[in-house]
Amino acid sequence: MPGTSPAPRHRAPLPAPRIAVAGAAALLAACAGEQSSLDPRGPAAAAAAEAWWVMLVGASAIFALVMGLVIYATLRAPERRPRLRPNPFILVGGLLFPITVLTALLIYGTTVGRRMVFAGEVPTLRIEVTGHQWWWEVRYPADAERGWAEAVTANELWLPVGELAEITVRSVDVIHSFWIPQLGGKLDMIPGRDNTLRLMAEAPGEFRGQCAEFCGAQHALMSFVATAAPMEEFEAWRRSREVGGPAAAVPAGAAALGDAGCAACHQLPGGPAPEEAGPDLRHVGARAMVLGRRGFDREYIGRFLTDPQRVKPGNRGHLRGVGDDEVDGLLDAMETLR
Ligand code: CUA
Repeated sequence: MPGTSPAPRHRAPLPAPRIAVAGAAALLAACAGEQSSLDPRGPAAAAAAEAWWVMLVGASAIFALVMGLVIYATLRAPERRPRLRPNPFILVGGLLFPITVLTALLIYGTTVGRRMVFAGEVPTLRIEVTGHQWWWEVRYPADAERGWAEAVTANELWLPVGELAEITVRSVDVIHSFWIPQLGGKLDMIPGRDNTLRLMAEAPGEFRGQCAEFCGAQHALMSFVATAAPMEEFEAWRRSREVGGPAAAVPAGAAALGDAGCAACHQLPGGPAPEEAGPDLRHVGARAMVLGRRGFDREYIGRFLTDPQRVKPGNRGHLRGVGDDEVDGLLDAMETLR
């Protein structure tokens, strides 16, 4: 056809090194991101990531060595193989080599473990996190020395940069697991038992936290946002979440939500403590994550409110949805809670 250049019959083959570089780049790109333990932003996560790379390199080298021997033994004609005496080979390869490697790994693993728990260091901040099907209750106990009152929130956690936080984790229903991959290892939240985890963020940023133990239908949506900020900013945020703050600051939407019955399960600004446990709604309009999604996603939250068992099947708080005519008013009210 005139005006069109013929399509090339075949492309020049990519040289192998280019394929290898492209493949490695694609693989390494998968190591970055707000939920990657290989993109550490704190000392505990850095120790875990280092151990991961050390073990990957070590295991790959041993795998290559063993595969090399297998290929050699398979391909080389029997009469051309050197005659090995089996006993020394088994003694070195089967006993001395694994003992040396595993002993080195044990010593190294112990030092990594000590780094991950900040052995010998004293935490300067305490946080309590309780797992619920399927949300996170976050409590900052009062601290008389710093003049801080108790602060409570849900599905968000803030840390001051450079401070060592001790986080007590527990559960009120089934086993969950607390995990902020970029800041440290995971820890099970077990009903009837308190476990503690230490974390520190080295620089400001937002990191995704995720429940790491299957805990029912909505396990995958049981996530939160952890924010690391300079101390001043952290304190301002913490003050905004304090319980029993100035009553004058009750936002307009609180009354509408109270009238709709939300106060039975959710803490509202200026309202009484709820009878049933549901996420604290005092600042829901300003949260980094609501219902497992980033920000205040009106469309998604609206769908949840009208058909909760379809959007989040199995949730125990919202059994029935609200009418289409009510939903906009509720969303407007929620957005005023900041
Ligand atoms: Cu909670 Cu999985």
